[in-house]
Formats: sequence, C-alpha cells, structure tokens
Amino acid sequence: MRRKVTIVGAGAVGATLAERLHSTGLVDIVLVDIPETGSMPKGKGIDMEQAGSVCRSDSRVTGTTDYAASKNSDICVITAGLPRKPGMTREQLLEINAKIVSGVAKKLSETSPKTVLIVVTNPLDAMCYAAWKASGLPKERVLGMAGVLDASRMERLIAQKIGVSIENVFACVLGTHGETMVPVASYSTVFGVPITKLLSDADVNDIIRRSIQGGAEIVDLLKTGSAFYAPSSSIMEMVMAILKDKNKILPCSALLTGEYGLKDVYLGVPTILGDGGLKKILEIPLSAAELDALKKAASSVRQMTDHLSKSPAAATA
Ligand code: LAC
Repeated sequence: MRRKVTIVGAGAVGATLAERLHSTGLVDIVLVDIPETGSMPKGKGIDMEQAGSVCRSDSRVTGTTDYAASKNSDICVITAGLPRKPGMTREQLLEINAKIVSGVAKKLSETSPKTVLIVVTNPLDAMCYAAWKASGLPKERVLGMAGVLDASRMERLIAQKIGVSIENVFACVLGTHGETMVPVASYSTVFGVPITKLLSDADVNDIIRRSIQGGAEIVDLLKTGSAFYAPSSSIMEMVMAILKDKNKILPCSALLTGEYGLKDVYLGVPTILGDGGLKKILEIPLSAAELDALKKAASSVRQMTDHLSKSPAAATA
C-alpha cells in the first residue's frame, strides 16, 4: 500500500505541494479544505490524477472537505490560514491563524494519531507551538517548514551575486521565519568557503536583509496571496526526508527543550529528519552575536505564544 500524505488547505501552497507529490508516484495524497470551498478540492484532485498517464503516476489525489479521507496519514501538512497582504508582517496574522491551526491540528491528530505534522501557516514558529499544544502529539512529530525555504532564498542570492551554480552554495538560516530570522553568514558557504571570505561586508549584509525580506518581496509582487513555488518545494524536501528515512539535516522549526539555552519555544534550528519526524536537534557552535540573535528570535516567538495563552479567544480548538 502506498503511504498517505494529507495536505490541509487546497490553496496555492497546498495544491502545488499536492501536484509535486503526485508526480513522484510514491504516495497517495488527500487534499482537504473547508466546507465553503465546496467541490473545488475534488476538482483539483481529479485534475492532478488526469495527469497520471503522462507523468507516469498512479498516486491518488483525493480532494475533499471531509477529514475522514485523511485517516491514518503518515504525514499531514497544514497550510490552512490567511496569507499576508502587501505591507503586512507574518506576525499580524497571529490570532486568526492560531484558531485555524489549532482546530486543524486537533482534528488531524484524532484521525491520524501516528502522523508527523508539518506546519506551514504563519506566523510559523508560533503556529507550530499552537499545533503542538492542540494536537497533543510528541514534539518529535510536530515541525515547522521555514528554514529550508529561507536558506533556499539565501542560496539563490549568493549564487547570483557570485555567479556560480546554486548547487555549489549552502546557506545556514536559523531563528524565526519572521523579522527575527537569523541568517548565519559564517556557516553559509560556496564550495566550502564562507561567504564572509568571498564578499564584502556590505554585500553580505545586503544578502542577509534580502533573505529576511524574501517572502515579503513575493507578497508585494503578487498583490494577492503569498509565495507558493519555493514554499511547496521546501515542504517536499522535509516530506521526502521523513518518508525515505534519510536522517537528513534540515533547518526546521522545532520545540527546544534546553538546546541553545532555550526551552518551551519553537525556533528554526538544524534538525535530523527521518522516519517518525525529528530524530535530533543539532547544537552547532555559534558566536556570541549569533547566539544573542537566536535569543532575540526566541523572545519574539514567546511574546506571541504568551499572548495566545492569555487570550481566551485565540489558540483554542
Ligand atoms: C513565505 C511564506 C511561506 O515566506 O511564509 O513565502
């Protein structure tokens, strides 16, 4: 039997991810959306299946508004929630999306008690915390997609600045998927050489600034909705690492329990992903300034999660 991946939210990120997964032929996909979307998810699912012959995939894509179809999924991806509008920060979506994500996470953990949850909704790190709390799942099985995307955005900028293939570039991005993102220049390399040895301080700082603003740049250009091609490919990277039990090191939002001197907070850190989700959080040596930036990032997430725990209207499923 093929394994099953449920995606909640049949919008641009969810549907693009469904299409990417379908084209592998490796898994069956359930694409769930709210009842108000009517037959739309079903239409998208059938549309993808109709490409099966040419893309050589027998994968099923069940578009539905009923969570029953997602029963016993191996991985569930939450993309549901409101996207940013031009000029908005991800943090401004806090209360409304916390409500949505908490409700969805609870339902998914009931229908798929062994699932790994990957949260994509913004503000990402606070939404991971809300999903973890509402689902009751162990921390190893609730993760956020952000670092892969932010690193990918930074890698594009480095590759284009230096004029080399993106395949020769590695970027290390930690912290939040928000204004307190921590791109770590000293560990971002071209053919193993840190970019701090290849570029001027001004160029490195420009790359860091543009990496942090990478999502906002797309929101401004699209006018409605936010990025979906790069986000869906980054989710794929996490899904494949888990399904193939790769033990792959990927930057993901994970619950810290003392690592980097921080606890009870979700934050982007290097993780080992494989069967069952998170296998380990890696603690890499950081400079005092980098650690300080990570601490600032943690307090910005904690401010949001504290706000949610004090606000009875929010974060309740
Ligand atoms: C972005 C969304 C996925 O950064 O947060 O484009």
